[in-house]
Amino acid sequence: MVGSVVNDSGVLLQVIGKVKPPAEEIEPAEIAGTRSAQLGRENGRKKEILLGRNLHSSSFGITEPEADEELTSDREAYMASVLAKYRRNLVERTKHHLGYPYNLDFEYGALSQLQPFSINNLGDPFIESNYGVHSRQFEVGVLDWFARLWELEKNEYWGYITSCGTEGNLDGILIGREIFPDGVLYASRESHYSVFKAARMYRMDCVKVETLISGEIDCSGFQVKLLENKERPAIVNVNIGTTVKGAVDDLDLVIKLLEESGFENRFYIHCDGALFGLMMPFVKRAPKVTDLLFRSLPTLFCSRCKKTNHISINV
Ligand SMILES: Cc1ncc(COP(=O)(O)O)c(C=O)c1O
Repeated sequence: MVGSVVNDSGVLLQVIGKVKPPAEEIEPAEIAGTRSAQLGRENGRKKEILLGRNLHSSSFGITEPEADEELTSDREAYMASVLAKYRRNLVERTKHHLGYPYNLDFEYGALSQLQPFSINNLGDPFIESNYGVHSRQFEVGVLDWFARLWELEKNEYWGYITSCGTEGNLDGILIGREIFPDGVLYASRESHYSVFKAARMYRMDCVKVETLISGEIDCSGFQVKLLENKERPAIVNVNIGTTVKGAVDDLDLVIKLLEESGFENRFYIHCDGALFGLMMPFVKRAPKVTDLLFRSLPTLFCSRCKKTNHISINV
């Protein structure tokens, strides 16, 4: 059987069929090559899918708890030691944490009192839920804060807080595809991989556009690609900060090219603002998010310094 299963806590398992683990040890370099080569095509070549290479050498074994009191206390002591060791490891790794645009200066201690509750904001945050243990008042408060930051009126937007940047991209691009079911997705080569994953998930035709040395989308190349697909609407992922170079695509130029190339009223723009969507309004001379939002059919999602909260707003 080949399939997948996910549970309510977001554990996704892919069933790849009955396969024997490889007999001999595999070098890490070999695994890395194998894993990255699992999906799709690269440079026009079909990638090989190798089953049975799901090696994990450093995971903890999970044992079911027993009713026996003594064993339970042993297990609790063991668990405490595992957690303490893990904490020490985190402290150590954090000291040497270099790279990735995270803000490590946070203190969430005040929230620990909420840990015992099963808080779940099921569904649309703007619609009253029959599930009482929620935090929608905070969710909508955050959305309103972003709306004010981006100078949107209260009744001019809808949104929700996603669990990660990837979900923001998946949601934004899905809306584009719902509006233009036969649209072609355009994204610069340096866009986050979740953009291309969206294309695969929604079975969209996706055109990768080359970038300038800065990492920005190469607009002349973009226009050439647009003209090759003139008959079909355009769904464009515009980056407000790419993962590696922090490049900001020239949205004004992207819109100008779309209009000049005959796509007026036939395009949708999703802005991946995971990196700089929050910061742009505070940067002098940076383009105003509001201006760009009202010039296209947009969604914009932004992540609060790559912590746990992501916001996806549709105007
Ligand atoms: C530009 C950009 N978009 C989207 C994402 C996806 O965010 P997440 O890892 O939270 O799913 C990232 C993550 O690094 C990113 O850099």
